Order: sequence, then C-alpha cells, then structure tokens
Amino acid sequence: MITVAGSLNIDLVTEAERFPLPGETILGTGFSTVFGGKGANQAVAAARLGGKVKMVGKVGNDLYGESYLEHLKKEAVDVSNVKPVTHLPTGTASIVVAEQDNQIIVVAGANGNVDRAYMKETLDQMKKGVLLVQLEIPDEAVEEAMQAAKANGSIVILNPAPFKPLPAEWWELADYVTPNEHEAAALKKDSTFNEAYREKLIVTRGSEGASFFENGEEVLVPAPKVTPIDTTGAGDTFNGALAAFLDQGFELRTAVEKAVKAASMSITALGAQSAMPTLQQLEGGEGHA
Ligand code: RIB
Ligand code: NA
Repeated sequence: MITVAGSLNIDLVTEAERFPLPGETILGTGFSTVFGGKGANQAVAAARLGGKVKMVGKVGNDLYGESYLEHLKKEAVDVSNVKPVTHLPTGTASIVVAEQDNQIIVVAGANGNVDRAYMKETLDQMKKGVLLVQLEIPDEAVEEAMQAAKANGSIVILNPAPFKPLPAEWWELADYVTPNEHEAAALKKDSTFNEAYREKLIVTRGSEGASFFENGEEVLVPAPKVTPIDTTGAGDTFNGALAAFLDQGFELRTAVEKAVKAASMSITALGAQSAMPTLQQLEGGEGHA
C-alpha cells in the first residue's frame, strides 16, 4: 500500500520556442490544460506501475477539483480521503514548455489548506507500506505524514521539491530523500545536512539517470536515450515508480533501475502524466502517448 501525501494541480501548459524576457510579449505555439501537481503525478505514476495507491490532499470545490477526482478514480487511485475545500480554488501550475527547458509558477490554492490536523486524522489508519511526500503542501502536513508513517514502520520517501532547506528532524524521519541534482547541491550546502544522511540520498540526474548509495558507495544508474518532448513530471514519475517497486519488495538497486526507465519514457510526450508508463509498457520498453 502506497500513501501519497501531496499536491493536486491543474497544469496550464503553454508551448513556445523560448521564454519571454521580462516585460516582453511573444507568440506561443500551443496551449493545453492537463492534470499535474507533484503529489498526484507521483500517485498516478505508482498506480500505473501496479501500486495500490491512496492519495491524501485537497482540491477546490470547483470544476477543476471535480474533474481531477474523476481522473484519479479512472487511474485506480483511491481518493476517498481527498477533500474538496470550499473557500479556495484547486491548485494551478502555469507552465511554459520551451525548446530547451521549462518554467513553472505554482499557486497552492487548496493544497495550502492541507494541515496537521487533517493529516493526522487521515493517516491514523494508514496501512504499513510506503509513504511518498513532496514540498507542495505546508510543512506541518509534511512532518505529520512522515511521523505517522515512521510510527507504523512504513518506508518514508521525501522528494524535496520544490526546493527548500529541510529541518534536521526530517532527515531522521525519511528513509530516502530524492532531490534532483540542483536540489541535492543546495541541500548539501544547508546547515541541517550532515554526512550521516548522505546515504539516504537518491539523486535524479536528468538524461544521465540517477544515483544512489549501495554499501557506502555511490552508484550511477544510466538512463536510456530518448528524444525529450516535455520533461515536466519526470522526477514525479521516478518517485512514483520508486515507491511502487519498493512496495512490491524489489531491492533498492532494481527499484532505481526501473524508476529511471519509467522516468525516461515519461518525457516522450507533452504533459506530466500523459506518457507515464504502465507496467506492461515499462517491461515492453515501448514509448507511447
Ligand atoms: O513536478 C511537476 C509538477 O510541478 C507539475 O505537474 C506542476 O503542477 C508542478 O507542481
Ligand atoms: Na511528459
């Protein structure tokens, strides 16, 4: 059983050849509205790979929220604990996908209303398994989720994205911390980081793959070569896949290898969730949309 405590956003994706400069207006080449948010992206990634997934978070009492819950049900994610809140809109992410890179502005909306009390009440009956958390919900909720999961013996995966310095206690609560290479560099410079935590790091390295620690040594798992269309959600695919395969009892090395492959496949189409593979697609290795 995998519990994902985190955000649900609607992604407003604009495609353009490049980013506008400050004060500049340019013409874009495409626009789409798709499901996103690091929490829900990771939940979908894990569910497609055979995980039994429960989503914990909040949406607005609006059309975006309603359609998100319908979508997650179709993806076989348990949303019985996702609460529509009336006074805030569903979270949004305004994304520009340019030829080389992307830029994202997230407005938390209902995600900002996920608090300690709600998390405590919801995770009280959490089954032992894997907890996956990111940093798009308030700190108190992240902390409560990790404490609840730790208390019942679950594996705790903390994806420190978007980046912020971590309280020292969070390093103790997490079994694995999964930054990208930029976040990893920033974490290591932070005062709460000490060498004892190094081996908890699993670092995603874009087209190079991901690294993790095995018997005290850092091991790089290379990524297969693919033609990237949109890298939004690649990290989420990695994290969701990692949770799914650890929950299925695979060794860390195997789980990381499979997660690297899943993340590579996910960047071959526009949108965070559109090209996340199913178990069958992952094993077959075919790209799809
Ligand atoms: O990690 C990608 C996600 O970050 C997007 O789906 C967007 O919603 C932002 O939260
Ligand atoms: Na994608």
